[in-house]
Amino acid sequence: MTAMKNDLLLRTLRKEKTERIPVWFMRQAGRYLPDYIKLREKYSFFERVRNPQLAAEITVMPVKQVGVDAAILFSDILVIAQALGVEVEMLEGKGPIIANPVRTKEQIEKLNPSRTEEILSYALPTTKAVKEALADEVPLIGFCGSPWTLLCYMVEGKGSKDFAKAKQFCYQYPELAAVMLDKITEASIIYLNLQIKAGVDTIQVFDSWGGLLSPSDYRRFSLPYLNKMTKAIQPKVPVILFAKGGWFALPELQATGASALGLDWTIEPPVARKMAATAVLQGNLDPIVLLGPPKNVEMETSAMLKNFGIGNYIANLGHGVLPQTPLENAKIFVDTVKNFKG
Ligand code: CP3
Repeated sequence: MTAMKNDLLLRTLRKEKTERIPVWFMRQAGRYLPDYIKLREKYSFFERVRNPQLAAEITVMPVKQVGVDAAILFSDILVIAQALGVEVEMLEGKGPIIANPVRTKEQIEKLNPSRTEEILSYALPTTKAVKEALADEVPLIGFCGSPWTLLCYMVEGKGSKDFAKAKQFCYQYPELAAVMLDKITEASIIYLNLQIKAGVDTIQVFDSWGGLLSPSDYRRFSLPYLNKMTKAIQPKVPVILFAKGGWFALPELQATGASALGLDWTIEPPVARKMAATAVLQGNLDPIVLLGPPKNVEMETSAMLKNFGIGNYIANLGHGVLPQTPLENAKIFVDTVKNFKG
């Protein structure tokens, strides 16, 4: 095996000293990149995900065009719903739609994690093609959604501000919710192992809707499953747990043994350091700052870096980069991190 040219992210995840802070963006492959938008006109979303050449081309784009220190596999968290036998459509500009949301005992009994490897078998050739295209320049991040965030979409059937139907379902049928969360967890671990077999260097779990739960409900409906996933994966590759809005759970997320914890912009770095003193932290600029003037992007990014300091830290946004982000501002964010001397 040849050595990786830029392994800043991996060394940071191992808590080693590095010459500078590593940087990448959540949702960096896609929507705001002009070359991606051109591909979108020719191929459907899941064609782009399943075709090794397309997935490789898209995954590498932000490394070449924005200069990030890591790539993240081009796919979507909803592939786990597909693995369990649920049909998912990706509507242009609208997001994922599940025409038959999962809400009954009969539907939940039918969810079948044992076909995960077969249904997501394309992950092996696509991930290998991505690794080949990266040519050991930077590490590859694999990912999946948290079981709770997957349940949100599978019960609600589409994106939502409050996922009221999904939460109502959990309060009304907690035993059924537990069965569903267990099955999602099982499929997710199989899928992550497939990605690891194909060569991903680290895994991020997106608990994008963790912050919709109260702390006690988070302990019921999200944390146990994140814990199970982390225990299964962390011995193989470092795990990054990102719970949007889930700052209250930082001590418990750290206790899972995950290498790093993602933060959104609603928490101050020193507070996060107090709540999770041993984990590497990742984040946390408000993605909307990147829609403002370039000078302000530089100022806000510098302030964030000073607040976190060098060491045990990965620069990122506090959530995914927005589709309307000017490429120029994304580059300013990356360059500000690269030039930061402390
Ligand atoms: O860096 C990357 O972009 C890697 C690939 C990636 C996608 N989705 C591709 C995608 C990743 C890491 C995701 C994760 C994802 N998907 C999350 C967790 C992160 C987060 O933002 O909270 C969630 C909640 C989803 C579900 C999802 N997929 C939504 C809500 C949408 C529609 C809104 C949107 O983001 O555009 C999608 C579609 C999707 N997934 C697109 C992309 C590039 C846009 C569709 C398109 O380009 O045709």
